[in-house]
Amino acid sequence: MRLLLFLGCAAVALCIVRGCSPRNFADSPSHRCFCQVTGYLDDCTCDVETIDAFNNFKLFPKLQKLLESDYFRYYKVNLKKPCPFWDVVSHCGIKDCAVKPCHTSEIPDGIKSSGFKYSEEANRHVGELVDCEKAERLGAVDESLSVETQQAFLQWANHDDSGDNFCEADDEHSPDAEYVDLLLNPERYTGYKGPDAWKIWNIIYEENCFKPQTIKRPLNPLASSRGDNEDNTFYNWLEGLCVEKRAFYRLISGLHASINIHLSARYLLQETWLEQIWGHNASEFQKRFDTVLTKGEGARRLRNLYFLYLIELRAASKVLPFIERLGFQLFTGDKARDTENKKLLLEILQDVKSFPLHFDENSLFAGNKKDADKLKEEFRLHFRNISRIMDCVGCFKCRLWGKLQTQGLGTALKILFSEKQIENLPERGPTYGFQLTRQEIVAFFNAFGRISTSIKELENFRNLLLNTQ
Ligand SMILES: *[C@@H]1O[C@H](CO)[C@@H](O)[C@H](O)[C@H]1NC(C)=O
Ligand SMILES: *[C@@H]1O[C@H](CO)[C@@H](O)[C@H](O)[C@H]1NC(C)=O
Repeated sequence: MRLLLFLGCAAVALCIVRGCSPRNFADSPSHRCFCQVTGYLDDCTCDVETIDAFNNFKLFPKLQKLLESDYFRYYKVNLKKPCPFWDVVSHCGIKDCAVKPCHTSEIPDGIKSSGFKYSEEANRHVGELVDCEKAERLGAVDESLSVETQQAFLQWANHDDSGDNFCEADDEHSPDAEYVDLLLNPERYTGYKGPDAWKIWNIIYEENCFKPQTIKRPLNPLASSRGDNEDNTFYNWLEGLCVEKRAFYRLISGLHASINIHLSARYLLQETWLEQIWGHNASEFQKRFDTVLTKGEGARRLRNLYFLYLIELRAASKVLPFIERLGFQLFTGDKARDTENKKLLLEILQDVKSFPLHFDENSLFAGNKKDADKLKEEFRLHFRNISRIMDCVGCFKCRLWGKLQTQGLGTALKILFSEKQIENLPERGPTYGFQLTRQEIVAFFNAFGRISTSIKELENFRNLLLNTQ
């Protein structure tokens, strides 16, 4: 073990020498975005290069193909849910923010009916469990939580459909929930930016990431004043946190980075009355990730993206036994295609399983059970709150992808930290234990696809920036 650690450090040192040596185009744009994004990642035993090779050549092409199938392209979502925290300034005026829901007739019958069947089954199952689960969870409320937190907790427990959930899922039966074709409404640059967009991330980081108000976040565009030593204070604080809270922050930061990569990679480059041209905008990318322009924040953001990737990768590996069951179908009603898609999905998950340096989720929420459970509950509470904040995003396109990606990450966390067994479930029929709805499955794999795309896009930006000296 010590030898391994030593080798790890040596590898980092080597990479730093190779990648960041001042003789080596120290000031080139590519170098300034990527030289610190290499080698081993903090809090895990994996390195950036292994992830790049695995994702870009193996996973990415297959996953993209899968996500184009009918099962995965239609996501049912309620974009009209009111924001629970403040009055939202609508950005309907921005054309590229619009989301066009599907007409019911466009949705394959199998999806409409199986979605219904699935949730009916799930509801029945929840009805049986909900009372004792509720009692258990309420019993777990710790006296040290504030009154508001306890109240929020009670509210969630009341309409909670499973003790496992990290997200507040949309009610699929609400008349406002509609199917959206994700391929026709891609995540890309919308023009939604400035104070309203900052506000969302600001509230997430300031009020939902365990951060005390007195610690200032570096480069916060909404902060009134910025001192010189704030960066250090912030990172000293972060390093002092327990590994779980630090992981929480890094997941959020990774998600933020991923979304910004998509917006830079599908930027509106040109618009005439005839057509819109979307493509890579390298200077937008640099603005967010260049080490000099971001005072070192860019590299941290990108490393957090890799951390997020590892979390989703591990969840995908862990959910394999659930998907492998004979009774699990990607049901759209087209039998031949459904079988083909399940085969492709299993192939992807086998690849994922063979990845050599998986994140070890047992390193989180370990130790004393009572403390670990309390921490997990806090973690869950914060994450759920973030999923509700997504209803406050003013631009519908961003709201759609924000909701999908938080639900996807929430599902990954549910898979990783569920106390219900995922292995050895019955081959067919209801499992009465670990359960995923179609909405969760669609969100999880699409969210994973987004992160996988981000990692792939980093390669594109690296090449683009190499050509701009
Ligand atoms: C790229 O983004 C920058 C902002 O970072 C913007 O000023 C510039 O006009 C964009 N380039 C194109 C071709 O749209
Ligand atoms: C939920 O988010 C709101 C808005 O940021 C915040 O005021 C509240 O404290 C958060 N609650 C929890 C439990 O995180």
